[in-house]
Amino acid sequence: MELKGRDFLRTGDFSTEELELFLERASQMKLALKKRVPSEKYLAGKSVAMLFQKPSTRTRLSFDVGISQLGGHPIYLNWGDLQLGRGETIHDTGKIFGCYVDGVVARVYRHADLEALAASAPVPVINALSDEFHPCQALSDCFTIIEKKGGLEGLKIAFVGDGACNVSQSLAEAVLQLGGTMVIASPKRYSPSEGLISDLRKLAKRGASLQITEDPAEAVRDADVIYTDVWVSMGTESDAENRLRELRPYQVNKDLLAISAPDSIVMHCLPAHRGEEITDDVIDGPRSVVWEQAENRLHVQKSIMSLIL
Ligand code: CP
Ligand code: NVA
Repeated sequence: MELKGRDFLRTGDFSTEELELFLERASQMKLALKKRVPSEKYLAGKSVAMLFQKPSTRTRLSFDVGISQLGGHPIYLNWGDLQLGRGETIHDTGKIFGCYVDGVVARVYRHADLEALAASAPVPVINALSDEFHPCQALSDCFTIIEKKGGLEGLKIAFVGDGACNVSQSLAEAVLQLGGTMVIASPKRYSPSEGLISDLRKLAKRGASLQITEDPAEAVRDADVIYTDVWVSMGTESDAENRLRELRPYQVNKDLLAISAPDSIVMHCLPAHRGEEITDDVIDGPRSVVWEQAENRLHVQKSIMSLIL
């Protein structure tokens, strides 16, 4: 199992065993930090570029802190401040990254741009969110689910809302690879493409399954995990009016929660638009694990970096 030097663009590029290795090391790293044992300096003497084309709070902070804890040097770069903003190609930029840094963490609009960056940069590229995938979020969310529920096999994870968003698509991919049952509830227009659904089914571990429905109640019935994300993702603002109207029946509120398993947990990648996809009483309620979920990004990303950089 060789992880060193590989890009981390989708969890689907890794086997179930490899994903389990990331999770296992994340667990050790979390435990060490809780005991105030300093992290091993896996990135000593290394520099990591953090290229952002979109805003970020959690991803930017957790990567910056994580790289520092591993003894590395994080360099935050705003896409628009680089020559990229004036038309230098992604191809040339990737080559230049290879002259100076040991890895690149990148948040972009088009997933194809991330692939182009990964193809030209001779160092590993980590997807910090693209329009299609958010694999660090998804692997970290599986870590949180395993912490809370002991594993993914036999669990029903219901994503309710914009099923075609990056967070939903990556969550489905990772949950299926790790053996869970994934249900996505969204209006047809917000469902993952047929092509992606078929790819995801091919990646599924034995016993895992993917269901797509338009009925939020059907999705959350007896679900162990209820997950939602914003209705207007970054880059879809021009369609906000339609999205807010069409996704309204998919709000995660106490009525929907009542249909789930009695010990279900509620997850959200954050940022939340309170009162839209989720109500205050639910996100602040006893079933919500959103803050621990956010914290776990740090541990899981440190694990990913320590193994591939
Ligand atoms: N969940 C997440 O990726 O948050 P940010 O956009 O704040 O990084
Ligand atoms: N789907 C959201 C996730 C933010 C972390 C977006 O792309 O804006």
